[in-house]
Formats: sequence, structure tokens, C-alpha cells
Amino acid sequence: MRVWGPRKNEATGTRAKGLSKKSMNYWQTELVRLRGVEPDDGEIFWRWNQDSEMARNLDFVWPPVSAAQVRRWAESVAEKKLEGDSFDWVIENSEGGQVGFIHTHNCQPRSGVFRYGVGIEARHRRKGYAAAAILLVLRYYFQELRYQKVNVTMHSENGASRALHERLGFLHEGTIRRAEFTGGRYLDAFCYGLTIEEWEERYGETGR
Ligand SMILES: CC(C)(COP(=O)(O)OP(=O)(O)OC[C@H]1O[C@@H](n2cnc3c(N)ncnc32)[C@H](O)[C@@H]1OP(=O)(O)O)[C@@H](O)C(=O)NCCC(=O)NCCS
Repeated sequence: MRVWGPRKNEATGTRAKGLSKKSMNYWQTELVRLRGVEPDDGEIFWRWNQDSEMARNLDFVWPPVSAAQVRRWAESVAEKKLEGDSFDWVIENSEGGQVGFIHTHNCQPRSGVFRYGVGIEARHRRKGYAAAAILLVLRYYFQELRYQKVNVTMHSENGASRALHERLGFLHEGTIRRAEFTGGRYLDAFCYGLTIEEWEERYGETGR
């Protein structure tokens, strides 16, 4: 099994400038750092919103939304008090660049089941950022918040998300037929999930 970590620079054969392995920040690995949304992040989220295919894969093709509205959304998230178990994070790479986001939702403390959505800006894909961010989030929910199951759903044509979750060890648990409508067609929804036992067996104590 691959150990996620900084990739070798193809040209120089050197590893990417790594963040300290012994870092005290729980939210930092060699590859990514998760941080809270800041009031100034409105601009970058607005830019990410312009990628309609990303929106279609995450949710649906959103209508144009003003920069002012996204700015106010970022400001409100930045000011949100710690309540409940749902969070929004920005994913940064080891150079401190913003490469995407991950947010948890539908967190049910009674059943210990949660869900998340993740998006990586197109030019930063296939560098391991989504996988690294997801593994950080899973470790937190399983080892700190006492959750025991994570579920993810994607439409049947989202091959990247399917491949990513299969690579991470998620199981295809079922298909909901004609659950979504986009591009003039109905699409099935694929339900994937991972239990805490499956996560422990695959990732051991480090969670990576
Ligand atoms: C799905 C998504 C988040 C993946 O992000 P990413 O940072 O490129 O993924 P990673 O680099 O961590 O990929 C890890 C592994 O997943 C698999 N994978 C990811 N994208 C893939 C693709 N397009 N095709 C095939 N396999 C893919 C590969 O096994 C990959 O490892 P490899 O690059 O060593 O082969 C990104 O494509 C995206 O933002 N899509 C739009 C939004 C979306 O669909 N979100 C998920 C909704 S459920």
C-alpha cells in the first residue's frame, strides 16, 4: 500500500520541501495543511465556484453567485463558533498555496456517522492532496470525535471520485438509481463507505 507523502520532483529527484514530520500541528502533514476558512478566503472560493464541472460533481451546476455573496459567506464561516461536528477547511500545500477545500456535514453523533465533500482546483489535481486531506479528517473523526463510519456519495459519472475513494479503501455499498439530474439526464448515485475497523486495519495507528 502506498504511504502518502511528498512526491519526488520528477526533474531533480528531490522531495518537495516538506513540513516537519514531528510537527505539533495535528492538521499538518508533509503534503497538506488543513486550516479554518478566513474572512479573506471569499475571493478564492469565488474563483473555485467558476469551475462548473467541479460544482456539478459536488452538488449541481450553480447559478452565478456574486463575489459579494461568497465574501459574506467566508466571513460568516470564519466567525462561526465551535458548535456541532461539521467544519469547513481550506487545504493548503506545503508551500502554503490554497489548493482546495474539504468540509464535513450530516454529522450524527448518536450513530457516529458523518459525510464530507472535497474539491481540489483542477491544476492541483493528482498530487495526492485530496487523499491526504481526507485521511486527516478520518483520523480526527475516528480517533478524536468517536465517529465510527463515513459515507460518501457521488454520481455515476464522477470517475475521479470513485477512483479516489476506492484507492482509499472505501467500499461500494450500493447504488441509488436515477438519483440526480444534470446535463439533461438522470444519473445514478453511488454510495461508498468506510467503517472505523476497515480504517484501522488499513491505516493502523498513524492514520496515513
Ligand atoms: C475527486 C478529486 C477531489 C480528487 O482530488 P485529487 O487531489 O486529484 O486526488 P489525489 O491526487 O489525492 O488522488 C489520489 C488517488 O485517487 C485516484 N484518482 C484521483 N483522481 C483520479 C482520476 N481523475 N482518474 C483516476 N484516478 C484518480 C488515483 O488512484 C490517485 O492516486 P495516483 O494519482 O497516485 O494514481 C478532484 O478530482 C476534484 O476536486 N473533483 C471535483 C470535485 C469532486 O468530484 N469531489 C468529490 C465529490 S464526492
